[in-house]
Amino acid sequence: MIIQSAGYKIFIADDPFGELRRFLRSRDYTSCFIICDENSMLHCLPILVTACPALSSAGIIETESGEQNKTLDIAAQVWQTMAENHADRKTLVVNLGGGVITDLGGFCASVYKRGVDFINIPTTLLGMVDASVGAKNGLDFLELKNLIGTFTEPEAVFISPVFLETLPYQHIMNGMAEVYKMALVSDKKFWKALSDDEHDNDPLKLITRNVKLKNEIVKKDPFDEGVRKALNFGHTIGHALESLYMGSENPLLHGEAVLHGMIIETRIANLKKLISVQGLEFEENEILGLLSNDKKTSGKTLRFSLINGIGSCSVDVNVSLAQIRSAMAYYRELLS
Ligand code: GLY
Repeated sequence: MIIQSAGYKIFIADDPFGELRRFLRSRDYTSCFIICDENSMLHCLPILVTACPALSSAGIIETESGEQNKTLDIAAQVWQTMAENHADRKTLVVNLGGGVITDLGGFCASVYKRGVDFINIPTTLLGMVDASVGAKNGLDFLELKNLIGTFTEPEAVFISPVFLETLPYQHIMNGMAEVYKMALVSDKKFWKALSDDEHDNDPLKLITRNVKLKNEIVKKDPFDEGVRKALNFGHTIGHALESLYMGSENPLLHGEAVLHGMIIETRIANLKKLISVQGLEFEENEILGLLSNDKKTSGKTLRFSLINGIGSCSVDVNVSLAQIRSAMAYYRELLS
């Protein structure tokens, strides 16, 4: 399956590597760097290089896994390695990993020598269904998620579920959070199919259906000014939770934080009368403090993307602090 995004193609197949080999042959890159973490280096790089031997001469830049490493310091190390190895403007960066790698690697490529080409080869479900598609990349800064970044399109995205076989269950659930979100904000039939476990044994179909939905939204609103904000459902609270637990002994994976965020935000949607719906000891003040720094807020007004039914979403809904506190209290009660 080939999905056309604004300026690039997304190849989704059990074996998209023939397309990758064709892509590499069609370009005249002077050098290539593969950015990966210790997991994708161990489990995915051998698969990639076997399928695409031209990449065996690529430089390997290994970073440490985890959102806590999506930082300016790590980006500086990537740029330093590229510079020391004479990467020029005709260099290709290959991002082989989950959302942290495609965000970080995409950002590094997008500003190195004012921008070099990059491709995404996501190896986690979250990377496949969300992070690798849509041209957002970036870093966390001052403990705030994605505070620094650019909208820069990859040259292409190559998605193969073969890499999912290397993933622990926790990371499959991490990606499923974004799949549930996509269905909740945009497609009631998809939600029904997920509820009926229709795609359980067919990851290729699940990923393709999700990426098609995301791609349609991104094409309508590439810079997150309108309808794309629906993809932030669960993320305003989710990002605050993720920031709160980042660096702790039990950091939350992005999808885990978004799952909590979606439940709390659905309660907020109910309080806002958008939807009718038949413990964590949150440190509420800290969460509210983190929320006021969230990129999606403007001034003192907290603006959320909230579902107003299964399969549709209202964006830029003004929410009071009292409503957020009330939703968190409701969630605490659910958990106790
Ligand atoms: N991950 C949300 C977006 O791409 O807009």
